[in-house]
Amino acid sequence: HAADKGNHRHFMQKEIYEQPVVVAQTLRSYLQRMEGHVTLPIPDNDLSDVRRVTIVACGTSFYAGMVARYWFEQFARVPVDLDVASEFRYREPVMEAGGLALFISQSGETADTLAALRHARREGQRIAVVCNVPTSSMAREADILLPTHAGPEIGVASTKAFTCQLAVLAALAANLARAKGKLSDAEERDIVRHLAEAPAAINGALAYDETIEAMAGSVAGARDVLYLGRGTDYPLALEGALKLKEISYIHAEGYAAGEMKHGPIALIDDQVPVIVIAPSGPLFEKTVSNMQEVRARGGRVILISDYDGIQAAGEGCEATITMPKVHPLIAPIVYAVPVQLLAYHVAVAKGTDVDQPRNLAKSVTVE
Ligand code: AGP
Repeated sequence: HAADKGNHRHFMQKEIYEQPVVVAQTLRSYLQRMEGHVTLPIPDNDLSDVRRVTIVACGTSFYAGMVARYWFEQFARVPVDLDVASEFRYREPVMEAGGLALFISQSGETADTLAALRHARREGQRIAVVCNVPTSSMAREADILLPTHAGPEIGVASTKAFTCQLAVLAALAANLARAKGKLSDAEERDIVRHLAEAPAAINGALAYDETIEAMAGSVAGARDVLYLGRGTDYPLALEGALKLKEISYIHAEGYAAGEMKHGPIALIDDQVPVIVIAPSGPLFEKTVSNMQEVRARGGRVILISDYDGIQAAGEGCEATITMPKVHPLIAPIVYAVPVQLLAYHVAVAKGTDVDQPRNLAKSVTVE
């Protein structure tokens, strides 16, 4: 594949940089920008009776599902069940006939997710699949196929597939909300407008690559790293920790910021970098107060926020990363970028095999 890397040192880096283009490409097939409509390959009539959505996936795709849960509940007011695929079948989940079961997978071949899909089908669920490989098993078995147009993802650590999944899931949430009569025309237009801003905002985030590279050395020496976020930034904290673990082999954990004082704060000392993901928005103050608790215990805080957030709370942080100011809807798409870049540069600093990390397979086809 060497030739396909273009100017990039690793596939992961190339794929991080492809995100403005592939997210735009993905959005193009789900948004009618001029008209201000989301357009999915499902008639609204088929969605209006959905009373529950069950989301199942693994790894990074699971975290995309976790972000989507906030959106489905917030916009469409539909209750959401969410599981990692390896747990789903075995807990004997209760699914009412006529529910929508949503499976998210880059490869479309992950064994646990595929088995969960078949289980949900036997339980009378309608099967929707968000998938990056249109010829995959999951894509073939879907009632409703929602492709991500990320193009082939080679790096074992998923990057562009994740942001494209988020783009599709946001459009699906809006479509579901419209079908359920929970979204006015004006609100739909706003959602379309905000989503359409994502590719440019991702570009804005990529502009901080060198800043992030410069701070990677100080994280590379750590034994443990914590990631904190609230709301849709909580799944991003989990995703940040997963990325770092996978490719740098540093132990990392993501926590809901408000959970810190229920245990994990005991880990804080001056050796532990704490990455705080806090775009300005309704939850900003709350996350910042959790961040101050960490600082008061000597924690080394790296704050990822926008200019206003960093002006308000950046003082005393070991480092800050300034993101473009974006609407909260697209914040998880944009803030995925610094989180990916940090993991990438830490791994490069440590000299690990970024694209082929030890013990991992790109597609996990055994249970
Ligand atoms: C992500 O960086 C991982 N390598 C892994 O967690 C992955 O997301 C998971 O195995 C799910 O794969 P899928 O999306 O192809 O189903």
